[in-house]
Amino acid sequence: MQVSPLGLGTVKFGRNQQVKYPTAFELPDDKQVLNILALARDLGINLLDTAPAYGLSQQRLGKLLSGRQDWIIVSKVGEIFENGQSRFDFSYQHTVQTVENSLKTLKTDYLDVVLIHSHGDDLQIFAQEEAVSALMDLKQRGLIRAHGMSSKTVEGGLKVVDDLDVVMATCNLSYNDELPVLQAAADKGKAVLIKKGLQSGHVEGHDGVRASMQFVFEQPGVSSMIVGTINPVHLRDNVAAVEEVLG
Ligand SMILES: NC(=O)c1ccc[n+]([C@@H]2O[C@H](COP(=O)([O-])OP(=O)(O)OC[C@H]3O[C@@H](n4cnc5c(N)ncnc54)[C@H](OP(=O)(O)O)[C@@H]3O)[C@@H](O)[C@H]2O)c1
Repeated sequence: MQVSPLGLGTVKFGRNQQVKYPTAFELPDDKQVLNILALARDLGINLLDTAPAYGLSQQRLGKLLSGRQDWIIVSKVGEIFENGQSRFDFSYQHTVQTVENSLKTLKTDYLDVVLIHSHGDDLQIFAQEEAVSALMDLKQRGLIRAHGMSSKTVEGGLKVVDDLDVVMATCNLSYNDELPVLQAAADKGKAVLIKKGLQSGHVEGHDGVRASMQFVFEQPGVSSMIVGTINPVHLRDNVAAVEEVLG
């Protein structure tokens, strides 16, 4: 899969409760979401990151994308966000059902990447849950092209690199604990998606954005940095900063 260096995170398309952004926000209306999607495509972004736990994100993408076009779609399993609260289910049945529901909601017959949305105890998910084997079976059935985990620990991230195709890891100017995971992925030719690269919005101006991008893209193994935004000015600024950094 050829992914753009920047991916578009879509939490803010669908969820504004229990999120850790610096300021509260209203969900964008359909026109605003369509504008952001069109602008992202115009600027060369081809990857969308979504999840059932991102509130209305998937429903809105399914409705507004009018077919998946040629987006690379990353989705997740395991976290359920209902009535303002998260809970987790990593069972075989729930994993399969979640992917089947996402396919229906997104009006497509395959997802490019499906990640296990970790609750924090990554290794326990590998040892005691069936989500990993469910994703392997879904890949065999052709419903997903690649599997992985959005992990939260170094040990978990290393296990993802050993056993699965894609790791989603946190990496930013104030948190570099997971760099060994990125190195391991680079060594083994596995894909790395970066989350929270802009510290969930705690960055100052273009210089802050650029410094964040510089830090992320100088690490080994980074396939794409997923940045969430519903602001077209920020989207343009982010793409410009990546171009400055990558040349
Ligand atoms: N799997 C997981 O466990 C997990 C967890 C967290 C995130 N994610 C994924 O990763 C994506 C990114 O993570 P994130 O949203 O937590 O963090 P992030 O991308 O570091 O930060 C997003 C925040 O930064 C702001 N922002 C974006 N561009 C900006 C700019 N140029 N200048 C100033 N502020 C800017 C956005 O606000 P504006 O809308 O105002 O631009 C938004 O509030 C998410 O959308 C999601 O897809 C996954």
